[in-house]
Amino acid sequence: MTEPILVTGAAGFIGFHTIARLLQAGEHVVGVDNLNDYYDVSLKNARLRELDNFENFTFIKENIADYEAMEKLWQEYGPFKRVIQLAAQAGVRYSLEKPHSYVQSNVVGHVNILELCRHTEGFEHFVYASSSSVYGKNKKLPYATEDRVDHPASLYAATKRSGELMSYAYSHLYGIAQTGLRFFTVYGPWGRPDMSPFIFTNSIIKGESVPIFNNGDMMRDFTYIDDIVSGVIAVLKTPPQKGTKQNVPHRVLNIGNNKAEQLMDFVAEIEKATGKKANIDFLPMQLGDVKETFADIEETTRLTGYKPTTSIAEGIPKYVAWFKEYYGV
Ligand SMILES: NC(=O)c1ccc[n+]([C@@H]2O[C@H](COP(=O)([O-])OP(=O)(O)OC[C@H]3O[C@@H](n4cnc5c(N)ncnc54)[C@H](O)[C@@H]3O)[C@@H](O)[C@H]2O)c1
Repeated sequence: MTEPILVTGAAGFIGFHTIARLLQAGEHVVGVDNLNDYYDVSLKNARLRELDNFENFTFIKENIADYEAMEKLWQEYGPFKRVIQLAAQAGVRYSLEKPHSYVQSNVVGHVNILELCRHTEGFEHFVYASSSSVYGKNKKLPYATEDRVDHPASLYAATKRSGELMSYAYSHLYGIAQTGLRFFTVYGPWGRPDMSPFIFTNSIIKGESVPIFNNGDMMRDFTYIDDIVSGVIAVLKTPPQKGTKQNVPHRVLNIGNNKAEQLMDFVAEIEKATGKKANIDFLPMQLGDVKETFADIEETTRLTGYKPTTSIAEGIPKYVAWFKEYYGV
């Protein structure tokens, strides 16, 4: 059997899809998730049930912010030489309400996993989720990894940036190979109910009003989940080597679609796929939110071969089909 890969956030949207692809490729995966109730836990459980059929998958319900529990997990199921860290307290708006949960999962949890990687002999690669939100109030588009990221617009963004900085320090100090992935807006089947693709689709299908912030004057680099999974796995296979970038084997890469969409075009695609007209409620910009996101992915493509291919015209009908089936509408 291949050496196990640890994936944290296993019951989450990106974690679940990444694990499914790894298992299909014959990898042995240990998945961790604390199944917190930030959003509907039944969706997290339903994702896990989809993975039940794989013998090469072990699920452990645990909190990455609990160091002793993580140490025990490492001893029992590890050591893990390849780790994909997708567990996090996500969401920009919720960080205004529950700041401590961001620090626990995204800062304490991040250090815990870093410590365990540090003490693993022959450690190969730590791939962790960052976010496009680190670009915060930057005006220059598209967002490029060499841009300064000193102006986070939310605590969520600040904790994600902290993760990148702590990772850099660990690579510098201990030579651990790491890649931080700045995800943009990811959508697709099994997607998160707190994100705009879900909120729009749900409201349009039910004939409820669709909240659109900043009067619709927003652009997002929407990325389809299958493209993201291909990217995460391609990245895992190509760890940064020592000797690159000042001898520190750490890098941060954008993982987006390289194409920003007008929010209203995204809504129009959902209207087309559902066959229903949106009843739009234009609202002002929300605190902590940013107007535009747009990824420069040239470096990610060059280093790992990552190439997203799914347009919203292709991805949205697939998402809407899953939504209707899963929610029985
Ligand atoms: N989906 C996106 O568009 C997007 C965009 C930018 C960044 N990201 C980042 O990508 C990662 C994955 O996102 P996602 O969309 O799959 O989110 P998700 O919320 O669906 O998945 C995260 C999972 O981590 C688990 N978790 C949270 N805190 C934990 C803890 N302390 N211990 C163990 N498990 C914990 C949650 O229960 C959840 O199942 C996150 O780090 C997120 O911040 C996602």
